[in-house]
Amino acid sequence: MAKKTQKETDIIFYIHRFNPDVDSKPYTQKYTIRVEPGMTVLDGLHLIKETQDATLSYRFSCRMGVCGSCGMLLNGRPSLACNTQILDITMKNLTVAPLPNFNIVKDLVPELTPLFEKHISIHPYVIQNKTDEMLDPTGEFYQSPEELTKYLQFSYCIKCGLCMAACPTLATDSEYLGPQPMLQSYRYSIDTRDDGFDKRKKVVGNTHGVFRCHYAGECSNVCPKGVDPARAIQLMKRELVLDYLKIKKHRSTSFIMGKPEGVKRRPEIPKAPPFTVEQK
Ligand code: SF4
Ligand code: FES
Repeated sequence: MAKKTQKETDIIFYIHRFNPDVDSKPYTQKYTIRVEPGMTVLDGLHLIKETQDATLSYRFSCRMGVCGSCGMLLNGRPSLACNTQILDITMKNLTVAPLPNFNIVKDLVPELTPLFEKHISIHPYVIQNKTDEMLDPTGEFYQSPEELTKYLQFSYCIKCGLCMAACPTLATDSEYLGPQPMLQSYRYSIDTRDDGFDKRKKVVGNTHGVFRCHYAGECSNVCPKGVDPARAIQLMKRELVLDYLKIKKHRSTSFIMGKPEGVKRRPEIPKAPPFTVEQK
């Protein structure tokens, strides 16, 4: 290696390697790279791949903490590789491993299909019972800033799966829904435009749902977007109990067919396009 400048540091990466086509079990491979301030772990992996080992596999896309593709375990903590500067977490050694609680596709690439399947299972979208109104609107779905605030922070989730990797319950029960889908179930159920609670409660209220959470809080601890899944899960438990005791009825409340005072109705309300598939 060339002579170091004052700002550069040699860092040893211990990277978890596993190719299911040829390896019977995972092993660790050591690489040393010269790191300068500002380099992210993703930059370091690119440097290794370009200069030392083209066979190294990892996943990334946006490089700016938005797409959620580059989640991995950095010195034991679930983190985004593109959002983590190397010298912020080590001055010497860095262990890099794939996210736990997922199968490994290859090296640092986790199989995220279970996350997305569980996410889909909780119906992660606003469900409206008034289909006539959806097809031919006569009003708008008004929502106050206070109503928006109730779910806003939960909508910042980028589906990176770091919370799922950090969850101790998921580590012992692979059928457990996990923090990301459960927080999404709360995000949509608390939305005043939504009528889907009854559908979601069958999934999040079952034996692998929210009541299995024992509030370790690690999911919220590792979330790179400041989302608080642990809080959403406790709030969802509350919604389920209130529903069970028939204290609270879940349905959209702020669907207003007219206009709130002081708001001018638009002269023409555009019609929704027809469904592209036949409705049952
Ligand atoms: S809640 Fe946070 S850690 Fe979990 S998937 Fe969403 S963004 Fe990632
Ligand atoms: S590459 Fe998109 S979040 Fe890291």
